[in-house]
Amino acid sequence: MSESLLVAIDGPSGSGKSTTAKLLARRLGLGYLDTGAMYRAATTEYLRRHPDGASAGEIAALVSAADIVCETSPEAPAFSINGRDVTDEIREPRISAAVSEVATNLEVRRLLTGLMRGVIDAHGRRIVVEGRDITTVVAPDADVRVLLVADPAARVARRAAEVGDRATASEVTDQVLRRDKDDSTVSNFTDAAEGVVVIDSTFLTPDEVVDRIVALAGA
Ligand code: DC
Repeated sequence: MSESLLVAIDGPSGSGKSTTAKLLARRLGLGYLDTGAMYRAATTEYLRRHPDGASAGEIAALVSAADIVCETSPEAPAFSINGRDVTDEIREPRISAAVSEVATNLEVRRLLTGLMRGVIDAHGRRIVVEGRDITTVVAPDADVRVLLVADPAARVARRAAEVGDRATASEVTDQVLRRDKDDSTVSNFTDAAEGVVVIDSTFLTPDEVVDRIVALAGA
């Protein structure tokens, strides 16, 4: 069994986490887990079952009973919930708009954190995991811990390029900046915890960010 190489990357929306984490996983031959996608998958099921809203307890109950499957290949990360492939659906603006309600539910966070740790262990701890609380809550013992940051204007521009014409400019600005605010009520992803290395990607290419993380990993 090869040695553990668990890389934890946190950061706000548009900081370049997904691009960087996927490139890094490919370069080092590691798995890749997008934990935001797990909150998004749970949100698809919530909106499908409760289009008019539900209590925090009902949301937690449906996540607790759900079968969420995460494919960890950086080439084709795919997600399903209760047998339904939601890989495309999780990127829809209506999911982005609703996901904070699910991600700020503390019982949901506890359940999904357990699931994330299961995926990490099933991968022999050779995996890049990205999210908001990976360096602090999910895997504070990771071999490499990075907080990726970027100026808000750069983050909005990147998210806009990603979503293309699926959302207007003001929807994208709302998605990035309002969600930062909502999400920061349950996890602090703007200040690095002790031992976490901050990388500012505002003026770096994805490859340059990956070079820095590879250097930190000593790989
Ligand atoms: O990174 P993203 O936009 O796909 O994340 C979706 C939502 O999930 C967002 O509201 C932040 C939240 N999230 C979280 O609270 N903790 C994580 N580890 C990952 C994502």
